[in-house]
Amino acid sequence: MCGIIGYLGGREATPILMESLKRLEYRGYDSAGVAVLEQPTAGQAIRTSVTKSEAKVDMLIEKLEANMPSGKLGIGHTRWATHGKPTYINAHPHTDCHGKIFVVHNGIIENFAELKAELEAEGHEFPSETDTEVVPHLIEKYYKGDFLAAVRAALKRIKGAYALAMFSSEDPELLVGARLNAPLVVGLGEKEYYIASDITAIIPYTKRVLVLGEGEVAAVTPLGAEVSTLDGVTVKSKVVHVDWDVAQAQKGGYDHFMLKEIHESDDAVANAMRGRLTDDGSVSFREFDVPDEQLRDITDVLLLGMGTSLHAAMIGEYVIEDWAGIPARAEDASEFRYRRPTVGNKTLDVVITQSGETADTLVALHQARERGALSVAVTNVIASSAARDADGAIYLHSGPEIGVASTKTLLAHTVSLFLLALRLASVNGRVSLERRQELVEALRALPEQVRMLLEREEEIFALADKYSGYRNFMYAGRGLGYTVALEGALKLKEISYVHAEGTSGGLLKHGPIALLDEQFPVVAICTVSATKDKMVSNVHEIVARNAPVLALVTEGDRSLDGVATDVFVMPAVEEAASVILNTVMLQLFAYRIGVKLGQDVDQPRNLAKSVTVE
Ligand code: G6P
Repeated sequence: MCGIIGYLGGREATPILMESLKRLEYRGYDSAGVAVLEQPTAGQAIRTSVTKSEAKVDMLIEKLEANMPSGKLGIGHTRWATHGKPTYINAHPHTDCHGKIFVVHNGIIENFAELKAELEAEGHEFPSETDTEVVPHLIEKYYKGDFLAAVRAALKRIKGAYALAMFSSEDPELLVGARLNAPLVVGLGEKEYYIASDITAIIPYTKRVLVLGEGEVAAVTPLGAEVSTLDGVTVKSKVVHVDWDVAQAQKGGYDHFMLKEIHESDDAVANAMRGRLTDDGSVSFREFDVPDEQLRDITDVLLLGMGTSLHAAMIGEYVIEDWAGIPARAEDASEFRYRRPTVGNKTLDVVITQSGETADTLVALHQARERGALSVAVTNVIASSAARDADGAIYLHSGPEIGVASTKTLLAHTVSLFLLALRLASVNGRVSLERRQELVEALRALPEQVRMLLEREEEIFALADKYSGYRNFMYAGRGLGYTVALEGALKLKEISYVHAEGTSGGLLKHGPIALLDEQFPVVAICTVSATKDKMVSNVHEIVARNAPVLALVTEGDRSLDGVATDVFVMPAVEEAASVILNTVMLQLFAYRIGVKLGQDVDQPRNLAKSVTVE
């Protein structure tokens, strides 16, 4: 998975590529590069300047600042290695045998080995270990004076996933983009155009984007952008207006995107509810406008996601069962796709993916759809693959999330799933009007409660500082608190590289407890729930093994005073609302430990924001 950018217009391309690559770094950041078609000076042949770095974008920028190529057309890439290590040679852009065709790529070319063998037999040479390199060589093979025709012919041979930006020095006024199973947008500026993996890269320059469909090619010239299929049939693409601003995509005064985004949680929670909820608990989703009768027919709900989104799926499972009384199950999408799924045409398939591009989640969505399930994507990215491929979408409206580890979007996912559960519960009459009204009240109070919790940041940071010396953590909870425990542990390990695992309170005795001693603290979720007393018993068992305990408790509950090593007091709220508050607390706790240990919390090692390959 990588970030790609292309520019064609009247301005110098290099500074634009540099800035855009910085904003795309969250997609991958192990190496980077640009190719700029330089303006020929009198009497000289046109030439392309290629600059690469085998480290993060900052090193590329240093090189470019020292030696800035001048030209109005260029492409750039920030890489997350799939084929071949992050080395200078493997960094994009890649080129053909004659150094005329330049390509940046996100995705995986599944048949690259056979294509490479074919091309090598014809005399092409491949210095890199990448799959991408077959693309410029294939284009070269088919090039007969028409670059676009050669691109189409080459792409017809490729299997797998690609988002590409390409140009040829033979055709200095043409920038080409193409996509299949990987995201790509075309930004439309004033007589200038951009090709980018996503909108975040180009919002300082334009808010008008054209979203390419699967297997489509965009030919960008100074006259405009034309979209067509691989067969050359013109496509009328929709222009989308994006309302994000530049400031939203920047750090806004915080030390890290992660911290800034945690501080946007109150807005994220509010935005996920905005315009969707009435006082009596009726819910409507504009882009998932399914009649009551159809929802009443639903026999089961399948929730799919990966990483943090899988934890959101588990939250959805609990509340859909509890409120709507419909059998629900949350599944790891990467496992689901290889099972024999028991999904029918009365199943509601809910795919949870903030990026809308996670490969495993998309395949699982396609499989559920093939079996006739009604599907809805809960996603933050408008016109993302999940949103387009599902029958409907519930958009989070959280604004861009740059920190690799999801934070505010989890909270928006959670609220969206609460709304979906309420919607299902109100059509099948499982929840009384009074109960629905209580839930509405609890949900509406949430943004303010989150704000008040965020104001207690210093208190949370002090606890994190106290616990930051431990190398192992256990997180334990029951019911919805179990999902919080799993997510708390995931967040900590992702950004601090400290070992952490989540367990249910019940499972604790069946193995994990063997690990506990005075060097192995436990974060225990003991806020209000039907199983709170059982968690309190768990804490006693943990304390008896000498493990330090940090317990999250509800105000007024003194049952762990003098028992837990530390207690963090939460306001008395509905159990569902406590999931949101507990999660925010544990995000700040993990953030502080990560920072304290000197880790790059926005871009943790080995991780990427959206995993668009299997
Ligand atoms: C990656 C990210 C996680 C995220 C997961 C699913 O692993 O590092 O933070 O939860 O992908 O992403 P999605 O975009 O599908 O929610």
